[in-house]
Amino acid sequence: MEKAVLDALNDQIRLELSSGYVYLSMSAQFESESLEGFSRWMRLQAQEELAHAMRLFDYVNRRGGRVTLEGIDAPATEFGRPLKAFQTALDHERKVTASIHSLFQLAGEHRDLATQREMDWFVTEQVEEEENAQRAVDLLSRAGDNDAALLMLDREFGRRITEGD
Ligand SMILES: [Fe+2]
Ligand SMILES: [Fe+2]
Repeated sequence: MEKAVLDALNDQIRLELSSGYVYLSMSAQFESESLEGFSRWMRLQAQEELAHAMRLFDYVNRRGGRVTLEGIDAPATEFGRPLKAFQTALDHERKVTASIHSLFQLAGEHRDLATQREMDWFVTEQVEEEENAQRAVDLLSRAGDNDAALLMLDREFGRRITEGD
């Protein structure tokens, strides 16, 4: 694999792990507020991010590349009300999408078709990630300052079953 592509893949591994760290921190905040549904949803999302990182980890290894891990910045500890937290999550996912798209493009420039194929999965996955975050933002906007509606959504989000959802 070419170095530029390998470096970008290693950067992407770090971005996925740092995404997981942000969502786990959101989960901790919700847990402390007894919003157990949102906490559970974010905890599963953090696990999904770890799975994304591992998918790339395995891919780099299968291609004979060397995974190199670097530091992950500390996440924020306070994200505000659930609407604000999910807005932050949506903004974050948009950044991840941009990063995936540029990796796909870079792989194309280096005629690395295998990496493009691998990134193809992530391109599709990002559509889902943005859709999920957008839906949460829409529903929480609608709930506004109504605590009963917020608690209902907390319950709904708590029904998320697996990290793949
Ligand atoms: Fe991800
Ligand atoms: Fe997903």
